[in-house]
Amino acid sequence: SDAVAFHGTHQAGIVTPAQDRLHFVAFDVVTKDRDRLIQLLKDWTVAATRMTAGKDAGEVGAVAGLPEAPPDDTGEAIGLPASALTLTIGFGPTLFRTADGRDRFGLAGRQPGALAPLPKFTGDTLDAALSDGDIGIQACANDPQVAVHAIRNLARIGMGVVSVRWSQLGFGRTSSTSTGQATPRNLFGFKDGTRNLKAEQDELLREHLWVQPGDGPAWMDGGSYLVTRKIRMLVETWDRSPLVEQEAIVGRHKGSGAPIGLAGEFDEPDLTSVGDDDEPIMPKIAHVRLAHPATNNGARMLRRGYNFVDGSDGLGRLNAGLFFISYQRDPAKAFIPVQRSLAAQDEMNEYIRHVSSGLFACPPGIRDAGDFWGSGLF
Ligand code: HEM
Repeated sequence: SDAVAFHGTHQAGIVTPAQDRLHFVAFDVVTKDRDRLIQLLKDWTVAATRMTAGKDAGEVGAVAGLPEAPPDDTGEAIGLPASALTLTIGFGPTLFRTADGRDRFGLAGRQPGALAPLPKFTGDTLDAALSDGDIGIQACANDPQVAVHAIRNLARIGMGVVSVRWSQLGFGRTSSTSTGQATPRNLFGFKDGTRNLKAEQDELLREHLWVQPGDGPAWMDGGSYLVTRKIRMLVETWDRSPLVEQEAIVGRHKGSGAPIGLAGEFDEPDLTSVGDDDEPIMPKIAHVRLAHPATNNGARMLRRGYNFVDGSDGLGRLNAGLFFISYQRDPAKAFIPVQRSLAAQDEMNEYIRHVSSGLFACPPGIRDAGDFWGSGLF
């Protein structure tokens, strides 16, 4: 079958070979009642176990229940296979304490240091209504209907306990997370994810992706921190810039994906050689130079983003971009320094706008049928 195992040491949907489609949702918890929150997490876990196996959200199903009652599944995935659906949950800083420091569910003492709200970055144009959230859930699948069905049913089950704060659809994964996948392209037309962390790199994943014992509170051991950034791409402006300039901005050749001056996609970017003009062959402002581990104290992350086109903006332009997703052991050693370096110098900034931001602590995997999302927290 095309189902991805829901139980395991780590949550599925992180090193799982990136599926084609995304539906990401951020919820706010609207109840003050800790027990109702815990019950919802249990109910969600049961539904997630079922849906990732290709089943209805509830035991009775979309059409077999009492005609007088609303069905326990919404029905639009009837007959569709699991489509490699993964559901990955994370908890935002605001679940632990409010902006003014108030403990909401007796969880303040459990907030990891690594879950400190992200700093403001130069050039940020964030929309607060499209940012943050108490709980984030990433649904990835090879069929958009299956991903949407999953999020819709989790929202339905959560009614009265959580409300949807924002959600985002994505298509065309912009990263490969496994060496078995060909590298896809983002909406600038470039291969994306060439030098990503990959599922097969056990040692690097231990060092850069999975939270290790001693890093912080034990409930996060084996988990990972998720950063989301909705990045609008001004594609019309980009499309008017010459190919050679596009390649200099990215630091890679558009066709092959090879680093500037080299021939193979997987050749290591050369940051030191200089050309006849004494200038570095890899331009000083190239995205791959500024994002490279060597420029950022060894920083590495697993990128898992998706393209989006949310219609048009009323000004004759596509509302298009990259829904950037990265997972890392500690944002302070990965996303934050890299984004600081990009925000300060990246020539690409002329063509992009960060419009939404999220940070979530994703706990380790669900052990077995008796376990539930966030069990280590309570
Ligand atoms: C590499 C595009 C935003 C971090 C790349 C590559 C492309 C690309 C084409 C080269 C292929 C590869 O090695 O994967 C974009 C676009 C962005 C964007 C179009 C915005 C719309 C970001 C952000 C971050 C980031 C916000 C993190 C703060 C990286 C990293 C690499 C990379 C770490 C790999 C560098 C290396 O190790 O060689 N990006 N990127 N990117 N990008 Fe981005």
